[in-house]
Amino acid sequence: MAASLADTVAGIKTVVVLGSGAMGAGIAQVLAQSGYSVIVRDTEERFLKKGKEGIEDSLSRLVKKGTISLSDKDGILSRLKLTTEFEKVKNGDFIIEAVTEDLEIKKEVFRQLDSLAKPEAVIATNTSSLSVTELALCTKRGGKVVGMHFFNPVPVMKLVEVVRTGLTSQETFQTTWDLAKKMGKEPIEAQDTPGFIFNRLIIPYLNEAFWAVYEGIGKVEDIDKAMKLGGNMPIGPLQLLDLVGLDVQLHACETLYREFGDPKFRPCPLNRFMVRMGYLGRKVKKGFYDYVADPPVPTIIDTGVKYRIGSH
Ligand SMILES: NC(=O)c1ccc[n+]([C@@H]2O[C@H](COP(=O)([O-])OP(=O)(O)OC[C@H]3O[C@@H](n4cnc5c(N)ncnc54)[C@H](O)[C@@H]3O)[C@@H](O)[C@H]2O)c1
Repeated sequence: MAASLADTVAGIKTVVVLGSGAMGAGIAQVLAQSGYSVIVRDTEERFLKKGKEGIEDSLSRLVKKGTISLSDKDGILSRLKLTTEFEKVKNGDFIIEAVTEDLEIKKEVFRQLDSLAKPEAVIATNTSSLSVTELALCTKRGGKVVGMHFFNPVPVMKLVEVVRTGLTSQETFQTTWDLAKKMGKEPIEAQDTPGFIFNRLIIPYLNEAFWAVYEGIGKVEDIDKAMKLGGNMPIGPLQLLDLVGLDVQLHACETLYREFGDPKFRPCPLNRFMVRMGYLGRKVKKGFYDYVADPPVPTIIDTGVKYRIGSH
């Protein structure tokens, strides 16, 4: 008989989150909101402080909206413990790794986790683009390793991709799935292939939006309008690229291209060109749109010869 949700997660009291960046802090917040004791580990106090401030701001907004009370907020914060000591991973019944997206850094973290974490603890990685299998192979407990891919901002986004490798045991998969549900998320199952499900679909879509501009199919505003009004998307692809970061898109697209070797993933030259020119999106106030202007205006100028970016 299949185990019930209560059975699989009953033993989980303390969750360790590695990394207190945008994702780690968000994951820790939602876990604490779901009643778990959470230990957040980062390498330096200043990163932990930044993560904690982000959580406090997010909870204050929920109090302001009336979603939670002030005493709820205090309760949530009391369940969060921050540390720079790696040894604290010993206390985790479930571990979520959300450190910098760098294979060598993550491999080292997995080796250390394998020697210190409880033998029964599941080790989940929030990686967006690296191979979960490769990380699992850094441990002697491949059956306990799984992908748990959250979306940014974690407190808002419902989706979690639960990623199986060829080594992941059914028990590990089910526990991770049930924990995602306990966190109020909607899990989906994905195989450990580059980009899993969501990025496999969204990255070529965004790359195609670059090609549309590059080939002069339409104006920036019209490409966005096409997908908003014709596709019922909440935001156009070029606006989305500005939000995600053009450098992040380029990196992700290069990864798919390299991993699959399929020309359909070839990054549009305009992506590389804009990144080199420093047009990275909202974080630098310029991408497909110039965000210094209010309202933002397109930065791509049709010179009649070649589309180019800039204000002159
Ligand atoms: N940002 C996104 O939109 C997004 C979405 C889904 C998944 N992810 C994935 O989540 C992970 C984290 O991304 P992020 O955007 O939060 O990155 P980030 O750069 O904001 O944070 C990473 C944090 O990890 C810390 N860190 C580095 N080495 C560490 C170690 N050994 N132990 C503990 N902490 C360590 C860094 O100090 C930093 O605070 C990455 O794997 C990324 O691919 C990101």
